Amino acid sequence: MLDNPSQLLLRHEVVTPATLLVNAQDSLSRQQSCRAHFYYANLYHHFAADNDSFAAELDPQLFQTSVDQAVLYVPKEKSLCRMLFDNLAAMMPEDATLYLVGPNKGGIKSIVKQLPASFSPAQKVASGNHCLLYVCQRNATQVAPFKLDDYQTTYQLPGEPATTVFNLPGVFSEQRLDAGTALLLEYIGAQPKIHGRVLDFACGSGAISAFVRAHCSIDAIVASDVSAFALATTEQTLHTQQLDSPFEVLASDGLDAVTGRFDWIITNPPFHSGQRTDYEIAGKFISEVAKKLKPGGRLLIVANSFLGYNALLRERFREVSEPLNNGRYKILQAHKPC
Ligand SMILES: C[S@@+](CC[C@H](N)C(=O)[O-])C[C@H]1O[C@@H](n2cnc3c(N)ncnc32)[C@H](O)[C@@H]1O
Repeated sequence: MLDNPSQLLLRHEVVTPATLLVNAQDSLSRQQSCRAHFYYANLYHHFAADNDSFAAELDPQLFQTSVDQAVLYVPKEKSLCRMLFDNLAAMMPEDATLYLVGPNKGGIKSIVKQLPASFSPAQKVASGNHCLLYVCQRNATQVAPFKLDDYQTTYQLPGEPATTVFNLPGVFSEQRLDAGTALLLEYIGAQPKIHGRVLDFACGSGAISAFVRAHCSIDAIVASDVSAFALATTEQTLHTQQLDSPFEVLASDGLDAVTGRFDWIITNPPFHSGQRTDYEIAGKFISEVAKKLKPGGRLLIVANSFLGYNALLRERFREVSEPLNNGRYKILQAHKPC
């Protein structure tokens, strides 16, 4: 079943085999035999991995070939959308066509007013399926070659050694360390007993992995996330540290691609779907995580104080504690018996 934006595209016969779908959201590209660019591993693996002829990529940067027609599924993060416009402008020749599609309430109306000078003003083509479809053309403006690094921002982690976290548009807590993650790092820094093989689940830009590598004596760390942008930033964050402990950056929807067992699993898990509080991802993670811990292994979570993870953890672990709660955020720890 195709999502609403794709159904609208189909109805108006917009997609041809020459079209590139950017920020693809479903299997339309497979149906239409066109290229697609995914940014989320769950969608990519679901729709692409089992089909060799499927011209799709999971990458924070677009295909490096010229594109005469593209469709951008407008992301809700405006900074990410602006970066994708720049990426598209660098790949599209003059007069190439860019369609923009997205849910009525997903920010598309304000995004079309913010198109860069490299595109003509967008015209509405159609509405339906609770979505809007616009079109614009690449105009004659010269643009610089697209470099992902130009969109990077950085912030420093607290404490010594100095540790830089790299970030990109659309990645969690783009400009600064999240207050919940900061509490978790404070807790880890005060008792650096984390050791062995460590998993940083839903790693974002790698702040937790980088701190653990810098402050704890570990053998190796695996940093996993569903977002290609998050993984690119984590790679850069950990690579720049120039520390000896090995790291692996892994595209995974939940724990699906995570193999082996860990002495410690540490996370600030996702709990939002758009504006809604959504326990689905964290709930699934909590229900599966014990299998990924070695006997005696420990799970460390930071969460907003109001989130009901304590009860979910108690369903899976006999030993659960809440060593820290500052009113806004809490640290939860669970222990797998030896
Ligand atoms: C609250 S952020 C934490 C980021 C980072 N650990 C930090 O503390 O700064 C949650 C992360 O979960 C990721 N995420 C969302 N859904 C996911 C899923 N199904 N599987 C894995 N990661 C997911 C998001 O991409 C985001 O980077």
